[in-house]
Amino acid sequence: MQLLDGKKVSEDIKNEIAAEVAQMKAKGEKVPHLAAIIVGNDGASLTYVGSKVKACERVGFESTLIKMPSTTTEIELLKKIKELNENDAVDGFIVQLPLPKQIDTQKIIEAIDPSKDVDGFHPENFGKMALDMSTFIPATPFGILELLERYNVPTDGKHTVVIGRSHIVGRPMGILMGRKGFPGNSTVTVTHSHSKNINQITSQADIIISALGVPNFLKAEMVKDDVVVIDVGITRVEDETTEKGYRIVGDVDFENVSKKASFITPVPGGVGPMTIAMLLKNTLLAREQRRH
Ligand code: GUN
Repeated sequence: MQLLDGKKVSEDIKNEIAAEVAQMKAKGEKVPHLAAIIVGNDGASLTYVGSKVKACERVGFESTLIKMPSTTTEIELLKKIKELNENDAVDGFIVQLPLPKQIDTQKIIEAIDPSKDVDGFHPENFGKMALDMSTFIPATPFGILELLERYNVPTDGKHTVVIGRSHIVGRPMGILMGRKGFPGNSTVTVTHSHSKNINQITSQADIIISALGVPNFLKAEMVKDDVVVIDVGITRVEDETTEKGYRIVGDVDFENVSKKASFITPVPGGVGPMTIAMLLKNTLLAREQRRH
């Protein structure tokens, strides 16, 4: 069994990005600038956004964190997005999801200038991704592709089973694994809450990408020998023995599934850190595109 070490690979990527930023600085060029909007004070979302800002500092990017109250109206948020769209100093920005229920998420995503949409959630960018055109690929799927590539995990002709059809992970992942090239050329099955006999489907998978959010959902008896397992789950469970009072658990029963797997991601230290590294990569791309 080979561990897919997202923590290490994400550090490699951040070092590569930091080296590029150092070159930009040496040439007197503007460095990439990422802005993030967070609405409300959900603990997990604040932690994620905080990590994104910290990662910017680490590689030498400029960053701006915009915190808005949970009572923010759709109009107020749209106004802030317009400001960022028009602010030439900002190369890319994200609106952290989920948003409070008074705000229509899709309307917000569509208000973002596609050339600054480093999350790759805008329908224009999502469509380009599905059409194999050059664009921003959503950070979590992009991070999974990068892990598969750097560890040379075979995907050609393999049966990939994606668990979950969210717009952020499952849906784009299914599209990307079926695209031409490497990593890709897979035969893809996307399962979701209405799927029947999930155990039978996962038992036939060469690669399983689980983005469900149910702790320990994927058990050893649901997978075949030598399976490749990518665990996107990041559920917080209470644990008073830890400093923070919680720990992060994945969708996969790691202890038992890892005994059958050829490659597997740990949680934490697998997909999570890759997501942040690839958001930085998209922001670097956004800066490079704006230079031309
Ligand atoms: N919430 C969970 N994942 C993400 C992400 O990748 N981007 C944004 N903006 N919000 C998220």
